[in-house]
Parts: sequence; structure tokens; C-alpha cells
Amino acid sequence: MSSHPDWAALRALFPTLQHKAYLASGSYGLLAKPVEAALRLYLHDRLEKGVDWGGWGERQEAVREAVAGLLNADADEIAVTTSASAGINSLASSLDFSDPRNKVVVSNLEFPTGAQIWHAQTSRGAVVEHAPEAADGTVPLEQFERLIDARTKLVQITHVCYRNGAKIDVPGVVRLAHERGALVLLDCFQSVGAVDIDVGALGVDFAVGGMLKYLLGTAGIGFLYVARRHIAALTPTVSGWFAQADIAAMDIFANTPSPTARRFETGTPPVPNCYAAEAGIGLIRETGVLAIEARIRELTGEAMDRLTAAGCTLATPRDDARRGPQVAIRSKDAAAMTERLAARGVVVSWREDKVRAMFHAYNNGADIDALVEGLAANRDLLA
Ligand SMILES: Cc1ncc(COP(=O)(O)O)c(C=O)c1O
Repeated sequence: MSSHPDWAALRALFPTLQHKAYLASGSYGLLAKPVEAALRLYLHDRLEKGVDWGGWGERQEAVREAVAGLLNADADEIAVTTSASAGINSLASSLDFSDPRNKVVVSNLEFPTGAQIWHAQTSRGAVVEHAPEAADGTVPLEQFERLIDARTKLVQITHVCYRNGAKIDVPGVVRLAHERGALVLLDCFQSVGAVDIDVGALGVDFAVGGMLKYLLGTAGIGFLYVARRHIAALTPTVSGWFAQADIAAMDIFANTPSPTARRFETGTPPVPNCYAAEAGIGLIRETGVLAIEARIRELTGEAMDRLTAAGCTLATPRDDARRGPQVAIRSKDAAAMTERLAARGVVVSWREDKVRAMFHAYNNGADIDALVEGLAANRDLLA
């Protein structure tokens, strides 16, 4: 891990940056040359060997190890899934909502999937209650204080909100939830790879994410972290042969879940995606997440100050401790603004009334210049 990464050298690994100011990493991270090479290696292996179950299993285990290293967890606490949704569904299927503890508290900063899956559990007895956000775009701890009670089974919180980049006070929610006997699921899709995450230090019981954004991998692969203390007591009913204690047993007369978090997997792993994810996470870990986080904080801080000075209204909290890699700018027509910026080679994305500029460590000052100039040139669409 390098404490002083060469940011220009990192930037040079992403060909797209030669012709775009790419600020959409929270939508889909850029393809790095080493990740492209990993995908080519998959094709090469296929052409050479035809089939390579042993090698593919090793690739999946390498991803499991890499995710564990990233989250400061153990490999057997990680399920390699095909999406964040798949991980949440598998976890939900292992929870019993028939007892008096049937409530799920969901923050209003969740990505839709992290609320929809819990609403789907209402047919199994779950009751879902929402923790609303305040005017500053964060969810105050008082909301969780009000909602988490002796009937609460689980609290779903996002680490960084996909709509406005705001951070939830994870340790605060974990403390409240655990005091009251509830579990906490952290959705870190909008932070993992861009923000240092230590699941043990945060105290969360579960965490989900995926590899296509700040982890620089690809779509079609994600992870679920399950703290060791919970694994044996949770038996998913969303399951399959790759979730079994012995995958090779081919036993059709019983379900014998793996003693590890692999019990939250289902079928054949997403093999090509494992190649890409291993390379993407490798690049993140070689660069160093702490260095990446500091670089992004610097870039986003500068962007926020300059955008404010240029007359933009920001929906992201300015306090460094309360925001992630995203800067959300209010617009009268965020879709049209995104299109106009794209025409200038500035790639952002939008949600509701906000244009989202989502930074990675490969961005630089020129990208900030292009964003500020692009927004200032389209003042009629600023809110
Ligand atoms: C915070 C967050 N959670 C979950 C998801 C959805 O993940 P998946 O499509 O892998 O289920 C996204 C996708 O953008 C996200 O940003």
C-alpha cells in the first residue's frame, strides 16, 4: 500500500479520461487497463482451456479474500453474490418475521432496492418503518432513536446516500440498535472503494455492496458481509448448490448450508465478473483506500467551494465527516443539465432535481474546472 500514490500514473490507466471529464463513478466506475486485461484473460482462458472450474473457483476465492481485506473482515464472513440485491434477498430470507420482533427500520436515504426488498418481506410478517431525512439531507439520529424499539429486528442504513452524497452516523445507529436488540445492515455500495470501511470498528452486523462503481470492477458481481457471530444461526431459504457445505456432494435429499457466509450464495458464480472484480479491487488496494479517501475529500471539497462561489446550490452537506465522494448540485431540470454537460464532454448523472458529480481518485483539477465551467455556462438550469 502506497501512502503517496502517483495520481497522474493512476489516471493514465483509464483511457476514457483522455477525452472525458468523467464524474459518474457512483453510477459506474471507469474501466482501467488492468481490468480490461483481466477480462481479456478470461476470454483467453476460455479459448485455451474451454473449461476450468478449478481455476474459476480460485478466482472467486480471490475475490472473497480481496473483499474481506477491504472491509477488514475474514474471508469466511463474505458471500460473493451477483448483486447487492441478491445479498439483501438472501439475508432477508434467513430472517424470521413471525415473532414479535418483526420490524425493519429503513432510512429514507436508501437506494430503492434496500427498501423494496424489506417491503417484499411484509408478506412474511415484516413491518417496515421509515426514518425520514432532515432539511440538510441527512437522517438525524433522533429519527432512529424514535423508531428502533423492542420490536425492531433490523435497521437498514446506507453509508453514503446515492441521491445527495450524505453520510449516515453509522456508529450512532449501531449503538442504538444494539442497545435495543436490533441488527444493522449497512449498504456501502456508494462508499466501498472510495471510503475506508472497517466493519468490525463500525460494529455492523451485515454489509452489502457491489463491484461496478468505486471498486472499478464490473456489473454482475457483489458481496454480502455477515459477521461471524450470526452465520450459524441464519439459514437462507434463497439458496442453491454453491451455498452447500460441500458443493461437490450433489445431495438432492437435503439442504446442508456451508458453515461460512458462503451459505448466502446460490448458483454458479459470475466467473467473468470475478476476473474483473479481482483486478479492480486489486488496483484499489494497491493504491490504498485511505489515500484514495483523502484524495477524494480534497477534490470534492475544492469542487464544493468553487461550485458555491459560482452560484450553485448544493444538496450535499459541506462537513467532510458527513459526506462521501459525491457532490449533488440542484437544478431546475437535472436531466437536461446532464445532457448539456455530456455535450461538453463532462459526464455526470442525475437523480430527481440534482446533478450528481461523483469523484474518484483518478479525477483531477481539470475535471473540476470542466464541471464548474459547464454548470456556469448553463446557469438557466441551475436551481
Ligand atoms: C447504494 C446502492 N445500493 C444498492 C444498489 C443496487 O445494487 P444492485 O443493482 O447490485 O442490486 C445501488 C446501485 O446503484 C446503490 O447505489
